[in-house]
Amino acid sequence: MSTFSEPAATPLALLLLGRDSDPASERGVECPGDLPPASDPALVERARIARAALGDRAFVLGHHYQRDEVIAFADVTGDSFKLARDAAARPQAEFIVFCGVHFMAESADILTAENQKVVLPDLAAGCSMADMAAIAQVEDAWDVLADAGIADSTVPVTYMNSTAAIKAFTGEHGGTICTSSNAEAALRWAFDKGERVLFLPDQHLGRNTAVLRMGMSLDDCVVFNPHKPGGGVSIDDLERARMILWRGHCSVHGRFTRACVDQVRERVPGVNVLVHPECTHDVVTAADLVGSTEFIIRTIEQAPAGSSWAIGTELNLVRRLAQRHTDKHITFLDSTVCYCSTMNRIDLPHLVATLESLAAGKVINQISVPERVAHWSRVALQQMLALPGL
Ligand code: 13P
Ligand code: SF4
Repeated sequence: MSTFSEPAATPLALLLLGRDSDPASERGVECPGDLPPASDPALVERARIARAALGDRAFVLGHHYQRDEVIAFADVTGDSFKLARDAAARPQAEFIVFCGVHFMAESADILTAENQKVVLPDLAAGCSMADMAAIAQVEDAWDVLADAGIADSTVPVTYMNSTAAIKAFTGEHGGTICTSSNAEAALRWAFDKGERVLFLPDQHLGRNTAVLRMGMSLDDCVVFNPHKPGGGVSIDDLERARMILWRGHCSVHGRFTRACVDQVRERVPGVNVLVHPECTHDVVTAADLVGSTEFIIRTIEQAPAGSSWAIGTELNLVRRLAQRHTDKHITFLDSTVCYCSTMNRIDLPHLVATLESLAAGKVINQISVPERVAHWSRVALQQMLALPGL
């Protein structure tokens, strides 16, 4: 019997999901061809027929934050790192249908063979965090570090949740990509190479890893704001910093607050609070356990029956965990809804349109990273794959 109760869908909560996003950098919003209406009762059957027609020519990947109706058609599910590896391990598939967001499809394109086509069912499925670091801004920031005489001793470490252009910048400047499960290994590698790290684009993952896993203090970190001259940081502070954190964040995980943690502890005696490291430092320090999406899933799988959990990550995943583990008490950390609005853009109509087009021999919504960008991104991604402990 599930004890999960749905959080409230207040208009304010929905409005806040778009907070701090940059509409000017939204990806294309056209979905070519006819999008079937969401009310079509034959959608599931249509998806099934098109999927069967494609057979092994297609490989469908579903990120853990996707809707149930999409996950039902995924050949594999995973976090962004696992899905990139899964895509790379399927060279026989002509079409990689990526049910996730734009940066994930780019990484899949970078890691798959030339003849494979990566398709994103809705091109408007971007990521507000990835879009908070534009390549021109990052190049300007690097010039600021060069003018301060510290670029040579700074190593860029870039979260997977970034555009291919930023990954390429990282590869070209001797850095590495990381994910939420290997950020500590990436920082240890970077500090063997240089004196400080430029961490892009998620300030929270950078700060949380530096302070909670590497023993640094909050004073070792500065926030570089690309909208302010010189990043809004003095040269002295840049020189002193060990972590230069890009001012980016996840609009979804940024919703959880310290008050959410305090309230759930009052409401549910003995509850274990489990959150993603994209949450703020305040939330992460108040939680019991912190880890990537895969870590969250593993922790719940291994938890004893009867234990209580409040989970701070995307709602589709938390609801599925509650449905799968009815012997445990699972609560959503916030009392209002918290979906990733861009992940949610991929729904059954978009999946049907994509699969039917591919089955009819027409490739739509292909994600194709230019070769020069792909080359340097691959260098940075391969550096991540070579980190110890992976
Ligand atoms: P992971 O899938 O790497 O845990 O990251 C969470 C996320 O926000 C994906 O967009
Ligand atoms: Fe981006 Fe956050 Fe959505 Fe992940 S959950 S895709 S980081 S906005």
